Amino acid sequence: MKIKALLGERIQAAFQEVGLSGESLLQHASRPEFGDYQANGVMAAAKRAGRNPRETAQAVVAALDLDGIAKAVDIAGPGFINITLDEGFLAEIEPLAVQTATPQTVVVDYSGPNLAKEMHVGHLRSTIIGDCIARVLERLGHRVIRQNHVGDWGTQFGMLLTYMQDKAADSNSLADLEAFYRLAKARFDDDEDFQRRSRQTVVDLQSGSPTALEQWARFIAISASHCQQLYDRLGIDLGPDDARGESSFNDDLAPTVNALTQRGLIELSDGAKCIFLDDFKNKDNEPLPVIVQKSDGGYLYATTDLAALRYRIGDLRADRVLYFVDARQALHFKQIFAVARAAGIASQEIVLAHMPFGTMLGKDNKPFKTRQGDLIKLADLLDEAVERASLVLSEKEVQVKNPDIDDSEAAALADMIGIGAVKYADLSKNRTSDYVFDWDQMLSFEGNTAPYLQYAHSRIRSLFTRGEINPNDLPARTVPVDDPERRLAAAIANYHDLLEQVGQEGYPHHLCGYLYDLAGRFTQLYEHCPILNADQEARTRRLILSHQTASILADGLTLLGIRVPDRM
Ligand code: ARG
Repeated sequence: MKIKALLGERIQAAFQEVGLSGESLLQHASRPEFGDYQANGVMAAAKRAGRNPRETAQAVVAALDLDGIAKAVDIAGPGFINITLDEGFLAEIEPLAVQTATPQTVVVDYSGPNLAKEMHVGHLRSTIIGDCIARVLERLGHRVIRQNHVGDWGTQFGMLLTYMQDKAADSNSLADLEAFYRLAKARFDDDEDFQRRSRQTVVDLQSGSPTALEQWARFIAISASHCQQLYDRLGIDLGPDDARGESSFNDDLAPTVNALTQRGLIELSDGAKCIFLDDFKNKDNEPLPVIVQKSDGGYLYATTDLAALRYRIGDLRADRVLYFVDARQALHFKQIFAVARAAGIASQEIVLAHMPFGTMLGKDNKPFKTRQGDLIKLADLLDEAVERASLVLSEKEVQVKNPDIDDSEAAALADMIGIGAVKYADLSKNRTSDYVFDWDQMLSFEGNTAPYLQYAHSRIRSLFTRGEINPNDLPARTVPVDDPERRLAAAIANYHDLLEQVGQEGYPHHLCGYLYDLAGRFTQLYEHCPILNADQEARTRRLILSHQTASILADGLTLLGIRVPDRM
């Protein structure tokens, strides 16, 4: 149940009844003594109406109908309204019933690596943040269409294919794509004949030569299978069917430019087809064009994105299109969206949103690189994560303490913990900022980390194992009594609201923060109240809350794309 929306509606109704207009500014109470929610909007609304804030707050509270929802509504300070939810109401909430009544079609564009090269750490953020939001939207009941806009077209393929021919390269020599790219590039840089042939290959490709296309397809297939291996290792919900690379829009580029021309949007500038929009000016206040076709007839990144948008809206029928792409592409997306609106590709009701993210930095606060200054391959990073996790597990003597965890289970654990730690470290930071990659922090069992939450979950599960209790034998709901129970129940009840917020705004760190807080509230209960040894009624109440907590932790971690071990 969306509690915030429900409270918001009721407060709005009360505002109306007493003749107030404005927002209720409802938020979570900043401190436990303020109850569960506080509405801070009365003061501003009263001021606008020239009324006394405190008296107005009293009138609002008198008009406010929260029967069966809140047990106390208090006025604090100059006119804050504090709301404390009723325990019976909390008990009625099914925390995992989060399906929306109004599903939308949401296209989520994420990962989008360049297939000329191997995936490196620069692709991690788009891949895991986009994947998390896609999962959350799906969880909420929306129809999610994943679109992996891979870079599979462009002049660099001329060079790669020519090198592939010269070397009679097979999938083995492409095993290290990065090395292959480097060799091809070196050859290109100091061999004029090779350059000439590479350019010819580009022309062959673009004119649809079957041989060139066949070679290109072979290269793309090998490179895509590298990516797929990484997706599988990372637990990313992307497969071959989600890939719709730049090349797949080739046939729609000319029609896209035609459509723009028919709308009267195109101007020629030095032979290039450009769109000038009022909102886009450069530093010197000169108009900044979006170029959609070069004077030599070639198309650009922007043209492909416009064609992709036509497909997403026209064919896929998207209500929202979300782009999880590096913040450095902000101008590109602003321009694409503006052109799409001006050209009628996207009507005003369709939401187009660039969900930008910052850069992953090393401890020196510079973009994360190897000691030699190379980009770090994603595959190497994941190997190191698992190695380090396995070291942590042996330091913690996990197998000594749990003798029935054999070596293969321990290896699986190290995999879940290591990869989970890398993902969580990223997802738990506000995506719009840069963040420092820190192995020790992310693998710690304390603080806002994946291992901490995985451990918190397994600890609750072990409570049931120790007590030999099947959670399915417990009643589904309980009315909290003691304070730590109540605080935990309030957080549990808030899960749906939280997911709505994450699905709306696209910030996974809110989900991380929520799960961390939830685990903390469980610890409070665990430390202050006996569970297995409590009297029958309290024991049942606390076990129900424990089970709900574990279920939400497991669900939330799954939405973050992090695996959840049963024991550790
Ligand atoms: N291939 C692009 C890059 O590596 C990312 C694609 C993002 N998606 C898009 N529709 N432009 O920068």
